Amino acid sequence: MDKLVIERSGPLCGTVSVHGAKNAVLPIMAACLLSDEPSVITNVPPVTDVFTMMEILRGLGVGAALAQDRLTITPDAYTGVVAPYELVSRMRASVCVLGPLLAKRGRAKVSMPGGCVIGARPIDLHLKGLQALGASVEIKHGYIIASTSGLRGARVQLGGSFGSSVLATGNVMMAASLAEGETLIEQAACEPEVVDLANFLLTMGARIEGCGSRVIRIRGVARLRGARHRIIPDRIEAGTLMIAVAMAGGDVTIDGARAEHLGAVIDKLTEAGASIEKLNGALRVQSDGALKAVEVTTLPFPGFPTDLQAQMMALMAVSRGVSLLTEKIYPERFMHISELNRMGAQITREGASAVVKGVESLRGAPVVAPDLRASAALILAGLVAENHTELDGVDHMERGYAGLEEVLARLGAKITRVKQG
Ligand code: EPZ
Repeated sequence: MDKLVIERSGPLCGTVSVHGAKNAVLPIMAACLLSDEPSVITNVPPVTDVFTMMEILRGLGVGAALAQDRLTITPDAYTGVVAPYELVSRMRASVCVLGPLLAKRGRAKVSMPGGCVIGARPIDLHLKGLQALGASVEIKHGYIIASTSGLRGARVQLGGSFGSSVLATGNVMMAASLAEGETLIEQAACEPEVVDLANFLLTMGARIEGCGSRVIRIRGVARLRGARHRIIPDRIEAGTLMIAVAMAGGDVTIDGARAEHLGAVIDKLTEAGASIEKLNGALRVQSDGALKAVEVTTLPFPGFPTDLQAQMMALMAVSRGVSLLTEKIYPERFMHISELNRMGAQITREGASAVVKGVESLRGAPVVAPDLRASAALILAGLVAENHTELDGVDHMERGYAGLEEVLARLGAKITRVKQG
């Protein structure tokens, strides 16, 4: 697998565009299973998770073709209902084919999603929601086997001990779209990606109200048509770039970044010392790189996103003072602490929190990315570290970022990819 070599960089200057949101396109690709007609999705990011979801759809007998950022899905009365272990184990989001397959085909056999380095990834809320709609579900030989003679609308509570579930809300909303009668989802997730999925379903002819709030009402319909849809910008890619500029210093305009998706991030980066200007359809970030300690707690939207926690920790590592970072969504999501400490950071974990004592400067080192968002955090740390940093585990980065190193290099970052084998 390739490596990235990162040198101290900055100031970063220029304009970049954000790709479409990975976490919006994946459930929307699954939603195409709810219709026999083709759908066309644009602004699709060319990331590994999208290619994996395409493989899952093809395995079900569905056509999936990506040309630049335009994805054409042709269900054509597919017959498959199995999402196999070798694909689901690569990507937990595969679980979101469960609801559409049940609703459209009455059956689904989906491998249990493996755990991952960010912690346990239970699916109890997904199963609770689908069972409430009348599905019978059993777990056998590592597979979720679900069936129904016809889903019926119901009142569903989707709050878990870590807040609402994004993909469980998506699964239940998709299944309820073809169920008999009305479904009320309470304690629904409000993430922009859930709203984007609802907008896609509405274009397909679904009847949904309240998306973006904690209570979503779905009135089932007999059939859904194919649709055309443009994916929302990726707020996590935008937030990652904002944190990069805050740390390395500079003046960068991020086209596509939406202030309404990044309120908590704008608030915390401003508090740390960056200045963020809302432009028409873009955000402009300016910083002199001299930052001060902040306290951050990750929460469901509109709180600070857990998917920017690792990147924020890298910023705290070089901010003046002692920062506190508390992870309320995935309390085990701290694999990046040891790698950042190898670079001279002074971070100690206290349960679901990390105490980060800012240092004058980090030192470049060979580091290994344990997961997708930690890979971005280590790149950002490399941008402000002495000497050079060698990052292994680039495949993690490629799951959710389309050419992050090229985007940063265009802004003046000294970052190169070293081909391996
Ligand atoms: C989505 O995952 C995102 N992935 C994650 O992004 C993101 O971190 C997460 O939402 C939270 O915002 C995609 O959209 C593909 P959850 P999801 O169900 O839906 C617990 C990235 O880096 N929970 O909202 O799987 C769960 O353990 C990825 O792009 C249950 O207890 O997350 C967690 O503590 C990482 N039971 C909390 O809820 C369940 O049945 C939120 O998880 C489901 C979840």
